[in-house]
Amino acid sequence: MIVTTKELFKHAYGKYAIGAYNINNLEQTVGLFRGNLGKIKKNEDPVDYSVAAPFILQISRGARSYTDKRFLEAMIRAAETVFPEAIFAVHLDHGTEEVCYDAIDSGFYSSVMIDASHEPFQKNVEITKRVVDYAHKKGVVVEAELGQLGGVEEDIEGSVHLTDPEEAAKFVELTGCDSLAVAIGTSHGAYKFPGAQGVRLDRLAQIQKALPEGYPLVMHGASSVPKEWVDRINAAGGALKQTSGVNEDDYAKAAALGVCKINIDTDGRLVWCAVYRETFRDKPEDFDPRTPGKVFMAAYAEYIIHKNKKLGSAGQLKEVAAFVRGG
Ligand code: G3H
Ligand code: 13P
Ligand code: ZN
Repeated sequence: MIVTTKELFKHAYGKYAIGAYNINNLEQTVGLFRGNLGKIKKNEDPVDYSVAAPFILQISRGARSYTDKRFLEAMIRAAETVFPEAIFAVHLDHGTEEVCYDAIDSGFYSSVMIDASHEPFQKNVEITKRVVDYAHKKGVVVEAELGQLGGVEEDIEGSVHLTDPEEAAKFVELTGCDSLAVAIGTSHGAYKFPGAQGVRLDRLAQIQKALPEGYPLVMHGASSVPKEWVDRINAAGGALKQTSGVNEDDYAKAAALGVCKINIDTDGRLVWCAVYRETFRDKPEDFDPRTPGKVFMAAYAEYIIHKNKKLGSAGQLKEVAAFVRGG
């Protein structure tokens, strides 16, 4: 069942965060649905409600153009049928104004992100407000971004800006956006923090305080870049350099401070890369795409369960189902 992120956030706020996972292909999609239903090996396995979770499936502009956006929609519609118990939002990740309109007009996305965070404050407000007005008329909710992501020591380093709490309050009021992605020291990709830096929970607490009560926040760049997966990749012929990610124990701390959506893409790519490299290293005679595909779907499902436990969303599906169905 496709729902809006707004409904999911209402249930989650202050208690846990919902995983927002990017997909690009069939194996990621199936692994994601299985993981969120606690079915590791087979689509037909019973749902394990002790770990089952609501989730957000994210589609980036890159994913839309990788093959053709229509394949993604068809695949997700099929997953909805194969996994009828799943409760999830379909979200456009880092949209431009033009792509937001396209996603809203498709009638398929329940949520879009307009990312005009690279623009000056006033221009970001104007663009975001236009998208919000357009989306709300069609029942679609909007995530916007203020501040710029990156590993930082001070408030500003090059083009990197931590979100200013007072500006955030003003931005939300002026645009009417439904949730706000904030820059609190994280960055996209596998190389997040120089040294022992981490998420700026102090800044997050200030932002939460400045915003209306119960206002949902979003953390981008939240992969933990586990050493285990990086080592496996490198042991199987990869050449990833010294990496760093978000401490998984910070997810629950961020959730308690109003973060309802935690974006994870890089970690899924690491699982994918390790499984494919290991498979072809260990079975050099094999050239069947299904051999690594099967291993990956199970490994990814298991990894999603692990992540959801850290986010606190694992085990929430039954309650969320009653919550969204009851209105
Ligand atoms: O925030 C970016 C996401 O990780 C999506 O990455 O644009 O390479 O699909 P992508
Ligand atoms: P990671 O690169 O840390 O997985 O962040 C993903 C993200 O923020 C997608 O919008
Ligand atoms: Zn992002």
